[in-house]
Amino acid sequence: MEIIHVSAECYPVAKAGGLGDVVGALPKYQNQSGHIAKVVMPMYRTKFLLANEWDVVHKGYTNLGNWWFTYTIIKERNNVLDFDLYLVDINGLLDRDKIYGYDDDADRFTAFQISVVDWISAWSHRPDVIHVHDYHAGLIPFIIKYCYRYQHLQNIPTVLTIHNAQYQGWMGWDKSHFLPAWDPWKRGMLDWKGSINPLASGIKCAWKVTTVSWSYLDELRVSANGLESLFEYEKGKCVGILNGIDSVVWDPATDKYIENHFDTESADKGKLKNKKLLCETFGLDITKPLIVFIGRLVGEKGADLLPQAIRDSFYYIGRTMNFLVLGSGFPEVESELESMKFLNQNDYNVYIGYNEGLSHLMYAGADFILMPSRVEPCGLNQMYAMRYGTVPMVRNTGGLRDTVIDYGDPDGYGIRFNYAAVGDISQAIWRAVEMYKDEEKLKEIRQHMMRLDFSWETSVKQYIDLYKSL
Ligand code: ADP
Ligand code: GLC
Repeated sequence: MEIIHVSAECYPVAKAGGLGDVVGALPKYQNQSGHIAKVVMPMYRTKFLLANEWDVVHKGYTNLGNWWFTYTIIKERNNVLDFDLYLVDINGLLDRDKIYGYDDDADRFTAFQISVVDWISAWSHRPDVIHVHDYHAGLIPFIIKYCYRYQHLQNIPTVLTIHNAQYQGWMGWDKSHFLPAWDPWKRGMLDWKGSINPLASGIKCAWKVTTVSWSYLDELRVSANGLESLFEYEKGKCVGILNGIDSVVWDPATDKYIENHFDTESADKGKLKNKKLLCETFGLDITKPLIVFIGRLVGEKGADLLPQAIRDSFYYIGRTMNFLVLGSGFPEVESELESMKFLNQNDYNVYIGYNEGLSHLMYAGADFILMPSRVEPCGLNQMYAMRYGTVPMVRNTGGLRDTVIDYGDPDGYGIRFNYAAVGDISQAIWRAVEMYKDEEKLKEIRQHMMRLDFSWETSVKQYIDLYKSL
């Protein structure tokens, strides 16, 4: 089968979070299983763009409302990612350094999607599936079904994968003329509660919808940032397929970002060397358990609860653990975490920003990783952590619930808690400190986790079966 993935992110070209990781890995493993998977994404001005060689494969002319523009499709020449990678260039809209966060994001991603469809319509053959990811590509199923210009593509099956339903790309109806002329009877296929909602439109128009874990799909029917009734109504075409992890990029025995490699046999020694490096760099105490947080400092991740949970733990449990936080996000959370450096007694530090290399070192050197997420569609951190022998401490939600079993339960290995609340987090921290005291138990848990299989193979098969069913 030939599958074309459409996404705003793809590691290592451009990544803001897990979406990038997934779109950088899934096509690779689909190719390995004998299919042809390709990725098309915007041509941001990233390092990857400058470091690689490209061929122009198509130039087209289309419009975003009254604005007519030329777009260019370039293809990476040497197959460095193990799949065909195409970038869409639109001068003035996509030629930026960052992926998101601009006032004209609605214009940027709508123009991107129109260009992708316009390009596919110029192919001499049809792909077997167009697989779109999140709201940035969510209008494509509508465009090929109901925009007159592209209706000849309407027999191509579309799949929408929802990595995060919190972000829906809402646009006012004043932007409805952005889309090439469309069937006015289908207004309802764009609308959700009075605005154009690209994610809702994708759910309504795609042939199938997937979420990145089973539990998240269940949760969306009761909590989906306003789309609950839509998920209930469309449940017949929705299915949960758990993400895998790229076990080549995320392998403690070969990881290019860490110096001290280890495998299951040498995990205790190897992790200790990485922990030493972290403790020296961040002024922490190597004799105490090291609990880390890696991620976007936003409400979804429960990051606002971290400062109080850390202070409470120091106060009530005692200064028996280290904390190291890596992330960026809400300015209030960033500055509170920064200001807590003054409390530091060789047991607390924070790095505000995005740092891929440091994140790998933290997975390798930490004893525990804390994820008090309010919403977690899948979560990759806990899976990376387990591959590196780091015990996940997670809230019982979404993909965290589907991948972590509490060590108090049969066959368990992680620490799970029910509420995104300071009390529950502090209790999990106490349990981590207790687990750390029992060296033999911790070793056993590490071995168990490192042998768990979170590879892509099973999920790839599920996606292929889903495509075939179309
Ligand atoms: P989300 O996509 O919701 O942010 P995931 O758990 O799916 O959450 O994926 C997060 C990815 O982003 C992981 O690869 C994680 O290591 C990485 N990441 C998040 N924040 C940072 C950061 N500040 N520096 C480096 N990597 C980060
Ligand atoms: C989103 C979710 C995260 C998931 C990732 C990859 O960013 O927030 O939970 O792991 O997408 O699917």
